[in-house]
Amino acid sequence: MEEIKIEISLKRLETAALSNEYQRLRDLATCAARGAYAPYSHFKVGAAIALNDGTMMIGSNQENIAYPSGLCAERVALFAASASYPDQSVEAIAIIAMRDGIVQSFISPCGACRQVLLETEQRYGHSIRILLCGKDESILVASAKDLLPLSFSY
Ligand code: THU
Repeated sequence: MEEIKIEISLKRLETAALSNEYQRLRDLATCAARGAYAPYSHFKVGAAIALNDGTMMIGSNQENIAYPSGLCAERVALFAASASYPDQSVEAIAIIAMRDGIVQSFISPCGACRQVLLETEQRYGHSIRILLCGKDESILVASAKDLLPLSFSY
């Protein structure tokens, strides 16, 4: 039996040393998280997206008393970008989580959001950089493919 290993490579970045683009995305994601509607989990997530023409879009998690009716911050941002600017490719997304107004350790997108990120990459034909923001440091993932190996397609 042959064993196959799949490797991914991540970059750790200090918050203080983020590039202007990543710092701006992190700030926007933080603002978005503050405005999240999360009365059930009290876990507020913000996402900010950079489009090809420099436009930035935000999203935050939107919960509902009928739990499955809510949506994660990442998909709110991705779908808003697609609805408003369908011709602009998605270049990068920053994600941050807050509880009681305090930035949490970095979180990584759920399976459904990974699937949507991947399809967005395929749709525009290039990778989306994914910045998982914590308080003092962030993790940079080069492509949604890295978060979803052996993804579904037909
Ligand atoms: N959530 C997100 O918005 N993004 C993620 O990547 C993970 C989880 C939301 C969904 C729910 O409103 C709350 O966080 C707790 O799971």
